[in-house]
Amino acid sequence: METIHTLEWMKQVARQARADGRLVGLVPTMGALHEGHLSLIRAAQQQCSPVIASIFVNPTQFAPNEDLEKYPRQMEADRAALEELRVDTLFAPTAKEMYPEGFGTYVTVEGLSTRLEGKSRPGHFRGVSTVVLKLFEIVQPHCAFFGRKDAQQARIIRQMATDLNLDTRVVTCPIVREADGLAMSSRNAYLKPEERRAAAALYRALDKARKEIAAGERDALRLAGVLRRVLGEEKLLSVDYAEIVDADTFESVTRLRRNCLAVLAVFAGKTRLIDNMAIEEKEGELVVTL
Ligand code: PAJ
Repeated sequence: METIHTLEWMKQVARQARADGRLVGLVPTMGALHEGHLSLIRAAQQQCSPVIASIFVNPTQFAPNEDLEKYPRQMEADRAALEELRVDTLFAPTAKEMYPEGFGTYVTVEGLSTRLEGKSRPGHFRGVSTVVLKLFEIVQPHCAFFGRKDAQQARIIRQMATDLNLDTRVVTCPIVREADGLAMSSRNAYLKPEERRAAAALYRALDKARKEIAAGERDALRLAGVLRRVLGEEKLLSVDYAEIVDADTFESVTRLRRNCLAVLAVFAGKTRLIDNMAIEEKEGELVVTL
């Protein structure tokens, strides 16, 4: 596996792959890789060659009060994990090159970026869409792979790609979970043992809502109530939001319809965790995916 730190060299390598008629896949990450990230790599390898994984802890998506400084960094372990998967290229640019002095251009996906995660973390999605657009410009991948764990992020990137006529296909992949259902996240490493145990309630809440839907519940407000009730049983958790939203607009709905998401954001101590469950209509039936 080749590790590339400079933008110019990354551009050149990707340009050559495209010129050779190869299908370039990009998996953007902030590192501290876990099975969730690795599942995106495997999905990319099914469709693309070469596969380029990027690791960049992007300062512009962290608010001043957030965890940029303490975000886990483990480049050597990450490199080993990517080597083992036979990833072609690791792109690990420096902050200095990504954001040189005088940097002043940002991209914002209006509307979608102001709800839920965007409301709780002002400026977060502006940082995400800006860095992802930069990565797309540098690599110009045919396909880029994102996890449904961050459903709103994936939706925003997709909208950006549509709005700006990007030639990159945005692919969304399933959520990878721990044995007790907790969605894998680099931030799970922050959890104290008792917070880690309490965090399993996110999955239990979604699973309870899933069962209610299977039993015929269609009232979105009552389902949101179910989510809050299960989460409320854990004293170590405090709920930021727990809602049923339209999967396209991320606006709250009052009744389940075509494509919805049950979305959660919960604090376990100081650690903010998110999760979601997709509720889709397929051949007249509601199909729920955790
Ligand atoms: P990061 O949190 O490192 O996540 C990188 C990718 O892995 C994202 O697409 C995310 O949705 C996916 N992912 C994380 N946990 C997952 C899980 N349990 N199952 C499936 N996929 C999972 O998201 C970011 O980085 C950044 O915002 C980034 C897009 C790289 C821009 O800086």
